[in-house]
Amino acid sequence: MLFPVSEAIPTGADREPVLEKFLDWADGAHDTPVPEVLGAFFGQPLDARTLRITGLHHVALYIGDYRHEADFEDWLETVRACPRVGHVSTGPSHIAPRAYGTPGHWINLRTDLGNEVELFTCRRRDIWAERPAEQKTSLMSHFGLCIDSPGHVRPLLDFLASFDGIRLLAYAPADELGHTYGHLVREDTDRVLELVHAGAQPGGPA
Ligand SMILES: [Fe+2]
Repeated sequence: MLFPVSEAIPTGADREPVLEKFLDWADGAHDTPVPEVLGAFFGQPLDARTLRITGLHHVALYIGDYRHEADFEDWLETVRACPRVGHVSTGPSHIAPRAYGTPGHWINLRTDLGNEVELFTCRRRDIWAERPAEQKTSLMSHFGLCIDSPGHVRPLLDFLASFDGIRLLAYAPADELGHTYGHLVREDTDRVLELVHAGAQPGGPA
């Protein structure tokens, strides 16, 4: 499962066709069976039921670096105007400044097929700018898997972070949407996996 690699967020006339490609990829990736997601991240089969993982929650894509805030604003406008997209929300990345020394933005949306998708972009500066595009894609793109209860998210993250070469990247108990979630990173591949218990969201299914 290779995420698409993009050096920079699309600008100008590239925005709409590239957004369509990202959405096509994300809709396709939403059909990935959970055992495949687990196997690709851990490099070994793990039983989803035993871990109390109930399904795939979202797919997150790194859409490339931005240089200027105006480029991000233009991109956001394109996303909001896209007829295939609904429930758009956005905010500043919490992980990028702390873990990678650069600011970033997330955009959360739902496609017309009902799939939840996150789009990430970070500002091209300092050491982040020197990382290869493939590495940035690995570090920011991820699958989010549903956990059956909020209280199980942290214990499961801690258990999985005890595996060789896996560490806990972030944990957030109940954000403004009522989501409890955390991220694991695999040190040899720079891949990231998210575990989430989704709270009730206004205007959509939990
Ligand atoms: Fe995520």
